Amino acid sequence: MLRIGVIGYGYWGPNIVRNFNAIDRAQVISLCDVNANALTKASKLYPALKTSRDVTDILTSKDIDAVAIITPVYTHFELAKKALQNGKHVFVEKPFTSTVAQAEELVELADKKNLQIMVDHTFLFTGAVKKIKQLIDEEHLGRLYYYDSMRVNLGLFQHDVNVVWDLAPHDFAIMDYVVPAKPLALSATGEVHYNGFEDVAYVTVYCENNVIAHFNVNWLSPVKVRNTLIGGDKKMLVWNDLEADEKVKIYDKGVDIQTRESVYDLLVSYRSGDAWVPKIAQIEALRAEAEYFVECVENNKTPINDGVSGLRVVKMLEAANASIKDKGRLIEL
Ligand SMILES: NC(=O)c1ccc[n+]([C@@H]2O[C@H](COP(=O)([O-])OP(=O)(O)OC[C@H]3O[C@@H](n4cnc5c(N)ncnc54)[C@H](O)[C@@H]3O)[C@@H](O)[C@H]2O)c1
Repeated sequence: MLRIGVIGYGYWGPNIVRNFNAIDRAQVISLCDVNANALTKASKLYPALKTSRDVTDILTSKDIDAVAIITPVYTHFELAKKALQNGKHVFVEKPFTSTVAQAEELVELADKKNLQIMVDHTFLFTGAVKKIKQLIDEEHLGRLYYYDSMRVNLGLFQHDVNVVWDLAPHDFAIMDYVVPAKPLALSATGEVHYNGFEDVAYVTVYCENNVIAHFNVNWLSPVKVRNTLIGGDKKMLVWNDLEADEKVKIYDKGVDIQTRESVYDLLVSYRSGDAWVPKIAQIEALRAEAEYFVECVENNKTPINDGVSGLRVVKMLEAANASIKDKGRLIEL
């Protein structure tokens, strides 16, 4: 039985406590939040849960094997470092840390102590992303051309990070997982309108083999959109995460090019074939991820969303901020 201590019971923390408690091989033993109201709420649902407003009660407890850190990003590094120093495995929210240097330090520390770090990139455990990964791995899309995503809605304004750090970790993590081409450089632009942090931003990532990715993230959109297009030379894919059933559609559309000898013009023909909807497993991503965390700890297995993958995402986030400050200057990754 993996004994878990959770730190942070705000918006996302209740989902973490509920999912870890639903697993046979894990139990949330203690919960810490600096806010007493949050603890009262949790105690009503889980009367046996030990609660505390002092993180050291969890970080130093002999009864806890793993710590789940579900607090704002600026707190992740200190909490994760102390947890690792005290011999605890770490499940930490996205984004992993506030800087690349912090992420590197945590990865090194976990390695030295032979402990697992899992970064909560929840989307990697959705049926849609698993299916997209399978389609790309099995080369159904052919040679990849682009990854284009739009993740916009009204709010929620964060107090400590801009819209890129709030919304793009999802896209960077998904791209990192499904697109085999390595990111080489990025350019980002954005604007501040309200609280000192960019609330509208556009990020372009240049990857190996001419793959290009673009992310549109926005807290000032009148409508919520969660659309991703992935195009290859054989097929193209549209993922609308807000669709209840048919989230992913594959289109047999594309461009066929021929060159004729002695003719310099390209002969372009457009292919417009069938579209189909693959079957996607209906699973609660966080439940699958919680199970996977327990499995990785029990078997000393490195997770797909380990500290190193969290570090790759933080590298892109840090580069995006540097580029935004410099009006879109290209930053090598
Ligand atoms: N994976 C996802 O899809 C997803 C979704 C939402 C949020 N998140 C992430 O979860 C984290 C928390 O986000 P949220 O929206 O729940 O924030 P929140 O502000 O609603 O909740 C954070 C909670 O942590 C507590 N807290 C803050 N600092 C603390 C400390 N040092 N010790 C103990 N308690 C502390 C606060 O009192 C609050 O109750 C962020 O990193 C966010 O990016 C992930």
